[in-house]
Amino acid sequence: MIKIMPIYGTRPEAIKMAPIIQELKRSALFDCVVTVTGQHRAMLDQVNELFGISPSHDLNIMRERQSLTSIMARTLVGLEEVFAEDRPDVVIVQGDTTTSTAAALVAFYHKIPVVHAEAGLRSGDMHSPFPEEANRKLTSQISSLHLAPTAISRQNLLREGVASDKIVVTGNTVIDALMHVVEKDVSFLDERLQFLVDSGRKLLLVTTHRRENIGDGMKNIGLAVAKIANTHPDLMVIFPLHLNPAVREVILPFLMDHNNIYVTQPLSYGEFTKVLGASTIVLSDSGGVQEEAPSLGKPVLVMRTNTERPEAVVAGTVRLVGTDSALIVHEVNMLLCDADHYSRMARAVNPYGDGLAAARSLAAIGHMLGFGERLPDFDVSDVVLGASTKAAK
Ligand code: UD1
Ligand code: UDP
Repeated sequence: MIKIMPIYGTRPEAIKMAPIIQELKRSALFDCVVTVTGQHRAMLDQVNELFGISPSHDLNIMRERQSLTSIMARTLVGLEEVFAEDRPDVVIVQGDTTTSTAAALVAFYHKIPVVHAEAGLRSGDMHSPFPEEANRKLTSQISSLHLAPTAISRQNLLREGVASDKIVVTGNTVIDALMHVVEKDVSFLDERLQFLVDSGRKLLLVTTHRRENIGDGMKNIGLAVAKIANTHPDLMVIFPLHLNPAVREVILPFLMDHNNIYVTQPLSYGEFTKVLGASTIVLSDSGGVQEEAPSLGKPVLVMRTNTERPEAVVAGTVRLVGTDSALIVHEVNMLLCDADHYSRMARAVNPYGDGLAAARSLAAIGHMLGFGERLPDFDVSDVVLGASTKAAK
């Protein structure tokens, strides 16, 4: 059997790696040894628990207000020790966190092939998102197989000189994960949240955590959310707040004393997707949320000036609004007050996947190692046509 080691450390990596791990565990070809860095602690454990994943190695690196350098340094040293004791034949990393780039680097130093899931996303700006744009470019340089979620990400890699036979278009495994959880019967731990989701009231779901937004950008986001809540007393704002203390201390003062803003701890993935499904509008600077919300037919206003996920912007269901509070308020007002505008943005589209990304990923890794054939690439026209047919009914 081939020993394959998925390595990850944060909430979004865990969500997107879970379908791959589930598929690996069903495979007779691979011996899957899960390693986590624990770059996130509570938010990582929450996801592993949901998907029934028990890591074999846990570096437990998280520190309060950790620096990028400390995440990188602890991961490099910790993984070297893991590889000395339990060397894998192949390593798989996901996305653009510092965990993923550090893990790719240690594997590269040990001459272990690196498979990069969610490869080829590019914003074109090294400082936004920071440090993720640099992380993913660095990982691309040292990967042996690039699992690009879409044709656009494949093009980005080709433009940078990656050989076409090393790129497979898989779709994003986040859609596999989403399809897996939305079918589950989730009950909320928090009764108030259950009540709000069942109430039929208009809901605005907000998340923010991007490092480059911490500071003035996040103050503007806080101001905008408070203004929206004041202007629309019928609207309920649900704000699951990231555990980063630097985020919490900036944003929380703006959210106090509003009856229609409900701040929660990070929700389990099952709970979060239920709230997403019940939401009227989503306001976020998250990468994963930009991919999931269009699939559920929810308009997303992205509080960033650029995105490495242009597919849903092109489809018209995601708009970039930056962190100017007046513009955020204006765009939310438009969606709340103009029914035609709302219905144009609230179409279910699936440019990011069809739920088979993990299966394509495994077939591609097997093929790289000389076993079996790749599956046909993910072709967005299949799902986009499917979605528009559905909308026309
Ligand atoms: C990280 C990733 C980012 C990803 C995001 C997802 C990097 C550089 N950043 O950013 O790409 O979009 O995760 O959320 O890799 N904390 C806790 N408990 C937790 C998680 C975080 O207390 O479960 C606190 C800690 O004080 C920690 C801080 O949050 O130091 C920041 O976490 P960190 O992983 O450094 O940065 P994120 O902004 O979460
Ligand atoms: N998410 C979650 N609980 C929450 C907020 C988000 O499970 O309270 C999920 C969300 O569905 C998405 C992922 O976390 O799949 C996104 O994580 P985050 O925004 O932290 O990181 P990014 O995607 O921006 O890297």
